[in-house]
Amino acid sequence: MRSIWVIAVTVGAATATMFAGQSSEGAASLSDTALTAQTETTLARRLLMVSIGANNDAVHDILDGVLPMDDYELRTRLTSISHMLYAFPNLYRAEPNPWTEAGAQADPARVSLATAAVWDDFPQFKAMAEEGYRLAQEAADAPREEMLPVVERLEALCESCHATYRAELKFLDYDNLEQSLRP
Ligand code: HEC
Repeated sequence: MRSIWVIAVTVGAATATMFAGQSSEGAASLSDTALTAQTETTLARRLLMVSIGANNDAVHDILDGVLPMDDYELRTRLTSISHMLYAFPNLYRAEPNPWTEAGAQADPARVSLATAAVWDDFPQFKAMAEEGYRLAQEAADAPREEMLPVVERLEALCESCHATYRAELKFLDYDNLEQSLRP
């Protein structure tokens, strides 16, 4: 009896998945509909990446001995990087808004730094972000002496993702940009 119940539940779940697939192919379902504008998600993902960068700088400086060793800080920063990398690809809209010179002139704080490749191969982009999510958590959980090589693999992933999916960074003066966001 028990196995029949399990099969019934499995079939039910498969049917539910099929219907979910169908509804998202037709009119967008409520769960696919965003409540925020493209400019807001762009700013959110940029601020998220700025935070990933700041956390990563601190992790690197602690492991290099430039900042004092603090095991709790090291591991919580790596876990934060991991969770932020999971959230990051979810801030992209279906409608592409890659970097453009005109966009950068109009609003340097809100222009997207992403390249068109993000939209051309979104599954690969998302898979790289998820790989970063796993690597950062692996580093957070590693014994101290095994942490640095994992962090270096993570940093190689940051660079290879940027090489394909991020426009060339002409500046990193975000403090200046944040000034322009204040009323
Ligand atoms: C899955 C790909 C991917 C990974 C992995 C990734 N990045 Fe990024 N990063 C991007 C993209 C794309 C942007 C541009 C975001 C936008 O404007 O839409 C970006 C932007 C940035 C910026 C510039 C933020 C700004 O707006 O000024 C920094 C700094 C940065 N990333 C640091 C890092 C660090 C450090 C790591 C690794 C710990 C990392 N990134 C991992 C894709 C990635």
